[in-house]
Amino acid sequence: MAAALARRLSGLLRPLSLAACARTPQTCQLSTLIQPTPFYSSVTAAVCVPLRSALCQTPRYNALQRVSAIVPSLTQQPSRSLTYYSVKKGKRKSVKSVTERFKRLHCGLWLRRKAGYKKKLWKKLPARKKRLREIVFCNKTQSRLLDKMTTSFWKRRNWYVDDPYMKYHDRVNLKV
Ligand SMILES: *[C@@H]1O[C@H](CO)[C@@H](O)[C@H](O)[C@H]1NC(C)=O
Repeated sequence: MAAALARRLSGLLRPLSLAACARTPQTCQLSTLIQPTPFYSSVTAAVCVPLRSALCQTPRYNALQRVSAIVPSLTQQPSRSLTYYSVKKGKRKSVKSVTERFKRLHCGLWLRRKAGYKKKLWKKLPARKKRLREIVFCNKTQSRLLDKMTTSFWKRRNWYVDDPYMKYHDRVNLKV
């Protein structure tokens, strides 16, 4: 749009400048060197500004939308991932992304996969891929946080058939 306008304007202006050149050749060389770019740009800006404001005044772009395009946080709700009181039952809720990503052993230890364990495997060496496949423990701070983000439902004991974690749910050599 702006480029097309500039082209049309330069087409209009060229005859004028040529005519001016014919009259005073010496000053004109200077003026062609200095003037053209600022002159065109100021003209195109003057033409473009009313156009842009006309676009903005169409009913779709009301004031709030225009402001929120600049400051998105005005319309977006802040993300509060932990629900203390649900709308339906007024109960605390587990954070779903926690229960999807982590596994809790009954002794209170949390397990996780290593970050990026299935990403860009084509460029990782076998040793690294092996390390990424390992399942590791979360540390104390993380485990506490994850405990707060889940309800008692996720802390009860489950007896699954052929549970691969069966041996690990209880700490056997921990002297308290
Ligand atoms: C637990 O891990 C997190 C993330 O790696 C780290 O920021 C934090 O300092 C660790 N906490 C302890 C007690 O090591």
